[in-house]
Amino acid sequence: MKIRVFDSQYEAGSYAALLAERTILAKESPVLGLATGATSIPFYSALVQRRHNGLDFSRVTTVNLDELVGVGADDPRSYHYFMQHQLFSRVNILPENAHVPDGLAIDAGAECVRYDRVIDAHTPDLQILGIGGNGHIGFNEPGDALLARTHVVRLHQETVAANARAFPSWDGYPSRAITVGVTDIFRAARIVLMAFGEEKADIVARAIKDPITTHIPASLLRLHADVTVVLDRASAGRLSPAIMTRIDPKDGWLTEIDI
Ligand code: GLP
Repeated sequence: MKIRVFDSQYEAGSYAALLAERTILAKESPVLGLATGATSIPFYSALVQRRHNGLDFSRVTTVNLDELVGVGADDPRSYHYFMQHQLFSRVNILPENAHVPDGLAIDAGAECVRYDRVIDAHTPDLQILGIGGNGHIGFNEPGDALLARTHVVRLHQETVAANARAFPSWDGYPSRAITVGVTDIFRAARIVLMAFGEEKADIVARAIKDPITTHIPASLLRLHADVTVVLDRASAGRLSPAIMTRIDPKDGWLTEIDI
């Protein structure tokens, strides 16, 4: 696992976008695994900027991690809506190549099976992840066991509360979601986990240093061969001195270490 700490989330998002651009340029049919949430916004802004500079998305396929059950693309709470506004409508990706689970599927179980086929056909070269305050990745919530493949999940109360904060004037926030499983995430050749802000500092430190456990799903990422954790100074604030003293300031950002 590598860690990079940047001066700001904008520089961090820009770095993740650079990695995405390298993937797009290197592959015949590049596949990006994408996340939603406030953390991913600087990344999408930087990707859109790269589109303005000529980056071509016409060969790109995207596969999103999750969607809330019961909300459609015209509902601002939905991840379809988020993706449409943050990225899909702002770059030249073909609509048929942009995959998000269908939160309005009448048969959610069948939708999970369908989505796993999508992942089987389009395994991400690069997977972008955020982290929930409780350590979830995608919507794989902490527990005694985790599921390998796409499934319907009942969100933990703290997850519903955290995500609902962005929609203060809305009555209610969905309590169930469709999420890809841990094995689906692990199939990506490279994973970039982003976390910003002081409120993520504690869970970031635990995911990196506590024993690997299903009770902190992000800690499992230490078992993957190619993971880069991209942080700002605030989210890196609780990393142990033993880690931080190995990260040296360089060119306005802090460099990468292997742990
Ligand atoms: C949601 C998403 C996750 C995301 C997490 C963090 O729960 N399902 O994929 O990583 O939120 O969100 P934020 O970046 O808004 O803190």
